[in-house]
Amino acid sequence: MSVTSIKPVPLSEKQSEYMHLIAELMEIRKRGEKPLAFIRTYGCQQNVADSEKIKGMLSLSGFDFTDTPDDADFILFNTCAVREHAEDRVFGNVGALKNLKRRHPQILIALCGCMMEQQHVANRIYNSFPFVGLVFGTHSLHHFPELLYQSLVDGKRVFERGNDDQMLYEGFPVKRDGSFKGWLPIMYGCNNFCTYCIVPYVRGRERSREKDVILKEAHQMISGGFKDITLLGQNVNSYGKTLESPVSFAQLINEIDNIDGDYWLRFMTSHPKDCSKELIDVIANGKHISRHLHLPFQSGSDRILKAMNRHYDRKKYLETIAYAKKKIDGVSLTSDIIVGFPGETYEDFKQTLSLIREVEFTSLFTFIFSPRKGTPAEKLDDPISAEEKSKWFRELLDVQEEIAAKRCSQMVGQTERVLIEGVKEKTGELNARTSGNIIVELDGDPALVGTFQNAKITKARNWILKGELI
Ligand code: SAH
Ligand code: SF4
Ligand code: F3S
Repeated sequence: MSVTSIKPVPLSEKQSEYMHLIAELMEIRKRGEKPLAFIRTYGCQQNVADSEKIKGMLSLSGFDFTDTPDDADFILFNTCAVREHAEDRVFGNVGALKNLKRRHPQILIALCGCMMEQQHVANRIYNSFPFVGLVFGTHSLHHFPELLYQSLVDGKRVFERGNDDQMLYEGFPVKRDGSFKGWLPIMYGCNNFCTYCIVPYVRGRERSREKDVILKEAHQMISGGFKDITLLGQNVNSYGKTLESPVSFAQLINEIDNIDGDYWLRFMTSHPKDCSKELIDVIANGKHISRHLHLPFQSGSDRILKAMNRHYDRKKYLETIAYAKKKIDGVSLTSDIIVGFPGETYEDFKQTLSLIREVEFTSLFTFIFSPRKGTPAEKLDDPISAEEKSKWFRELLDVQEEIAAKRCSQMVGQTERVLIEGVKEKTGELNARTSGNIIVELDGDPALVGTFQNAKITKARNWILKGELI
């Protein structure tokens, strides 16, 4: 398929002017006190990265941030549409803001993100949640300051659904949540149209950021002390196809890996249909690339993979896994699985079970199929009952628990380099993570958070390891 190149558009000057205007307006309204924003992010890291841009724009508009909705002048939920459960949670939590708005009528309540790119959702919000003042989708981030200013100034409800799903904007201010663990988007959107998935409809067509822009941001993060950087895209393996001079993902990650410093480089998500040997070789020879491959297979049955429009079969998937195991010493493999795709039989499901037994994943993200409005799978006959699907789902979890426990217990006695990520509230233990993305709990000084340490693995408890600092 030939892809036309997509050129980045810089964030317009006009938006900077709106940020100034918001700061002035809020200064008067708050009589010199800092206005506060409460941001809650649902869904995947793409949304987390978008929220970091929104926080960047809010900071430049004079806002500080709060964890207490009651203290906020501006409340924003960045929403996810991937499964019905995710949407229900958002509707429930938005409903709960009604009383808050009654108590503090001056609060501006806003919703953004993937759910808001669906017309039927925006309509429902408009009709059933009159206290929501601002709604915008994933294609409207580049004029968020303008939308915010409009809703603050004239108090009218602003509902905006973007059409420019082929555009790529650069130059956002980014306020990262973490100081040592961070996200770096390398591309947006998806062209794959897996038949169950809403993402291509709410995130638009695939667009890659320029290699030099990504390298510059990676340099800044590394020199700014980031230790764990995850490159983000819905399908990182097709990175570069929309660039004027195409670059492969393997080339990109290899160039980032050549930046000096003490850091780990991760990426997600890799699509099995074009996870190349070249990429696996780059990981195997990498200096900073974590020995972890998240490669969602969704189903172990070829019939179902075809119905899902995944463009690989079980054999090809297992060949890729075999190559990764051969090349990447101690590779940690993780995956996503959907149980109960329309038409799936218990025989198909058993193929999924046999695949996870064969590969022995470190951990799995498992989901029961959720019909999404407007996707092809929504219209398929789905004769298996919800109870039956739940039974299969529990069977899958039991098998995986056994495998994870086995994989983790094999690590007892080994020494692992870990990144200390935080302190466990309940026990005061340190939370750390291996290069393979496995959690390790250990005793130690909280001052070590954000540093790499060596740990001896002493115990395995299901999929969590216990360790001692060396
Ligand atoms: N781009 C990534 C995944 C994005 S969505 C990829 O292709 O791997 C994350 C996961 O949610 C998917 O891998 C899939 O397992 C799950 N998912 C997506 N749509 C779903 C649906 N309609 N029902 C259940 N699970 C779904
Ligand atoms: Fe959805 Fe498939 Fe795209 Fe992943 S690759 S975001 S599952 S359409
Ligand atoms: Fe959800 Fe949108 Fe991510 S639908 S999974 S937040 S791309």
